[in-house]
Amino acid sequence: MSSITTRLFAVRNESPGAGPARAGRFATAHGEVLTPAFMPVGTQGTVKGITPEQLREIGPQVILGNTYHLGLRPGDGLVARLGGLHRFMGWDGPILTDSGGFQVFSLASLRKMTEEGVTFQSHVDGSPQFLSPERSLEIQRNLGSDICMALDECPPGRLERPKLEESMARTTRWLARSRAVPLRTHQGLFAINQGGTHLDLRRRHLAEALELDAKTPFQGFAVGGLSVGEPKEAMNAVLAEFVRELPAERPRYLMGVGTPEDLLFGIEQGVDLFDCVLPSREARHGRILTSRGKLNLKNARHREADLPLDPDCGCYTCRTFSRAYLHHLFRCGELLAFTLNTIHNLSYTVGLTRAARQALLEDRFPAFAQTARAGWMTEEP
Ligand code: GUN
Ligand code: ZN
Repeated sequence: MSSITTRLFAVRNESPGAGPARAGRFATAHGEVLTPAFMPVGTQGTVKGITPEQLREIGPQVILGNTYHLGLRPGDGLVARLGGLHRFMGWDGPILTDSGGFQVFSLASLRKMTEEGVTFQSHVDGSPQFLSPERSLEIQRNLGSDICMALDECPPGRLERPKLEESMARTTRWLARSRAVPLRTHQGLFAINQGGTHLDLRRRHLAEALELDAKTPFQGFAVGGLSVGEPKEAMNAVLAEFVRELPAERPRYLMGVGTPEDLLFGIEQGVDLFDCVLPSREARHGRILTSRGKLNLKNARHREADLPLDPDCGCYTCRTFSRAYLHHLFRCGELLAFTLNTIHNLSYTVGLTRAARQALLEDRFPAFAQTARAGWMTEEP
């Protein structure tokens, strides 16, 4: 039995006017998770450019790790021998690990899919590698993450329907195999739903997952295969119909999304968890997310600006440094620019989901959403 008590997911969604949006909480061995929550990505056992102490001040409920990367390097056996991923990376809060399906598709070469699993060439050293549902969960068991993801096939956004159906059938068979793998007592398993932008395929895939769930329950459900090149309207249309059909008493996780606008839209549809490289990656390119929309730090108009990145942000970067200083660091290619920009962008994004939760609890979510959207439209100072 998993000690993740997501079965007891406490959801509050009776907030007037909030529709399917909800505030929830669930327990893991490394702490409670308050939702909605944005999970920063720590692919290689680090959230790029910042220390765990800086991360703690940002205050994410969960961070993400990657089975694909850590299994290849330094290897899950090594991480296990050194006490697991929490100890290895100095983060004692909850960790979710992605299964590697998505990364094999985006990073590896010479991919060959079979029923058994996927063989590929490592992007690190070219060595031949093999990932199966069982191997993915073995890696995740060795890493010791609190939430494990089942291995899925990640079809490209515009795949024709018959091919997509074949791929989904395999993902369902892999899900059954994943469910049969014993995890450690503190670990839970989430299922991943595919189906592109076809609502009927998503529903069928969910029905198949729920059949497995009736025998041995999953601790949560993820929506995968979105934000992979399909039109934004198509993604939003699926979310608007489908998210509310996922089991209400367990966490719902929208994978690989996204922008502040996407997070707000997802929350409105009843999504609880999100992850995306966007805030941290944008930070490293000097693109800053703020309550007044996006800001490009490279722009010459910040050269003498004695203003914080975001006047509404209380992060270390905004409390301490001017845009002029951050512009200077960025122009010089100083490492500190990456760190400070990342602290801000993650604070902004994590803070957005935290503020949405607070608004839901205080029955003012629609006004909160309206204010946030109005802010993104204003001309920045
Ligand atoms: N990250 C973003 N999308 C996906 C997906 O569809 N599957 C997995 N495993 N990870 C993802
Ligand atoms: Zn800030």
